[in-house]
Amino acid sequence: MDTKVVQIDRRNINKAMIQEAGNIIRNGGLVAFPTETVYGLGGDALNESSSGKIYAAKGRPSDNPLIVHIAEFGDLKEIAVKIPKAAEKLAKCFWPGPLTMIFEKAACVPYATTGGLDTVAVRMPSDPIARELIRESGGYIAAPSANRSGRPSPTQAKYVVEDLRGRVDMILDGGASEIGLESTIVDLSGEVPVILRPGYITEEMLVKAIGNVEMDKGLLDSDPQIKPKAPGMKYRHYAPQGSLAIVEGPKEQVTAYINEKIKEYRKEGMKTGVIAAFETAAGYQADCVKCPGKRNDESEIARHLFRILRELDDEGIQVIYAEAFDGHGVGCAIMNRLLKAAGYQVITL
Ligand code: TXA
Ligand code: MG
Repeated sequence: MDTKVVQIDRRNINKAMIQEAGNIIRNGGLVAFPTETVYGLGGDALNESSSGKIYAAKGRPSDNPLIVHIAEFGDLKEIAVKIPKAAEKLAKCFWPGPLTMIFEKAACVPYATTGGLDTVAVRMPSDPIARELIRESGGYIAAPSANRSGRPSPTQAKYVVEDLRGRVDMILDGGASEIGLESTIVDLSGEVPVILRPGYITEEMLVKAIGNVEMDKGLLDSDPQIKPKAPGMKYRHYAPQGSLAIVEGPKEQVTAYINEKIKEYRKEGMKTGVIAAFETAAGYQADCVKCPGKRNDESEIARHLFRILRELDDEGIQVIYAEAFDGHGVGCAIMNRLLKAAGYQVITL
């Protein structure tokens, strides 16, 4: 398949281009597009065959449901039933934006889109390109992150091109994603709202908006017996090709430990890498030291983490050590992704 890659300016959107992309989706094709979180791989959410194509393009297990993206709040009631008051509150506070909510699904949403579940995940993105595209495509775009299954979510179009060229009809290049981590997912289909995936909208923000919110037990525990409720959270994910371990403990000890390990691996001829905060990055002697941002600037760290995981691969790094980051607020999402990338390998000093 020929993939058309086009640049598009989110401050001055080329309408003809969006119409062309919208028509592709209406006709059952696939278009990758930017959102404020990460790039999405979009198809018509109400068309079974489109969802099938998404799974095939990504190489994704088909029991892992897709998020349906809408552009108007009014469209929610067409695809979801039993929408609780809490959802309306959350939509008021955080839509359009990086929040996905889960509801019981309406009959028009095919099981091919929900991975066989009776619930549907819905998000209203804020990126203007995404919103225009959703409108032009008929209102409902199913879109997982636009990476091949298992790779870090793409925060730039060049990574989508790398993963999906030849597998999708079109890729809209709207520049780098602002947030860089996927949306927060909250399940509203049960008695108590449950966070299934931490993200930029933090637990504290959700509690402030609606009061009672729980964290999915499967997220807090690396015990494989306790399964996360979002099917996608059980897969090893975001993983770089090199082996990655997280090292936590007092600053000086962490630096000394990592440098010692790196020395050993370099002696064996391995290419080594470190992911470190701005404040400590200069202290490492690895082949490649990547710095996602200042330690207390979580937005910055979130924005750069996935890019860095991909760059370490591109540079052929075989052994990677990462400093641990603070796990509060947005840091909870950062550590969730980093832990998954490391396959939960943590060294505590
Ligand atoms: O920010 C985002 O959410 C991005 C952009 C493109 O919008 N999308 C994204 O999609 O991250 P994806 O497919 O990579 O991740 C969706 C996650 C998966 O872990 C999936 O298992 C979970 O959402 N999910 C979707 N529908 C669900 C449902 N009905 N019940 C439980 N989990 C669900
Ligand atoms: Mg994904």
